[in-house]
Amino acid sequence: MKAVVRQNFDASVDAYTAYERRTNRFTSLARLLAVEMSTHADDGLGTVLDAGAGTGVSTRVFTETAAETIALDISREMLSEIESTARLQADFDHLPLCDQSVDGVAFTASLFLVPEPAAAVREAARVLRSGGVVGAVAPLGWFRPDGTDVFEQFERESRSPTDTSALQDALAGEFSTTTGTWRFSTTAENIRLFHAIPAMAARLYPKFDIEERVLRARELLSSLNGTFEQRWRWVIGVPE
Ligand SMILES: C[S@@+](CC[C@H](N)C(=O)[O-])C[C@H]1O[C@@H](n2cnc3c(N)ncnc32)[C@H](O)[C@@H]1O
Repeated sequence: MKAVVRQNFDASVDAYTAYERRTNRFTSLARLLAVEMSTHADDGLGTVLDAGAGTGVSTRVFTETAAETIALDISREMLSEIESTARLQADFDHLPLCDQSVDGVAFTASLFLVPEPAAAVREAARVLRSGGVVGAVAPLGWFRPDGTDVFEQFERESRSPTDTSALQDALAGEFSTTTGTWRFSTTAENIRLFHAIPAMAARLYPKFDIEERVLRARELLSSLNGTFEQRWRWVIGVPE
């Protein structure tokens, strides 16, 4: 599963960058998460591990907020877009960091991509100093103005490897948590662009190869029109 996620993101750099240029969505999520994390950290954000740094969108935000940021990702291609920060190609489940070595671990739209979040959360707890904070953001989906799920009409779910509630449970197993929902207005075209990212098209068509799944997602969503609400769940955890 993890090798597939890595290959999917290795093939997603251009489409990911195009989506972010148009929507700024991951920048917004990282900014909101950085504020929540700063509020909950005992002594501010010293060193932050940007866990699942991708092309560095969240890294740029944490670099503005924290004294030091370490960008970590499983995808070499995504990570190679980051230039100015310490970079580590590694898996959440085996962090190449010493015990109690960072003040914050930020999973901006990344923890829901692991099949068993409990292992990653245990690793986050291990590397956090006392007084530190962990933050995670995970997708809840897209909704019409009447509150119905956009994908209902297609009789298909846009599903993550890990359900958001499983991610919350994993964090609550190690930390004292607080949580909430962030809502963004978005358009049909942005939902299409999101699913033009090969790693995201895998949410709809995991069994097809990269080109085929992007084509199928485009076809599926071609009739979508109007404005929608995209919802993201945030979770902050502090050691108990
Ligand atoms: C949706 S991107 C988010 C990137 C970035 N945080 C941002 O705000 O743009 C998720 C990233 O998590 C990484 N990822 C997924 N599973 C991982 C794992 N097990 N270990 C490390 N990184 C992982 C992916 O390679 C991908 O770059």
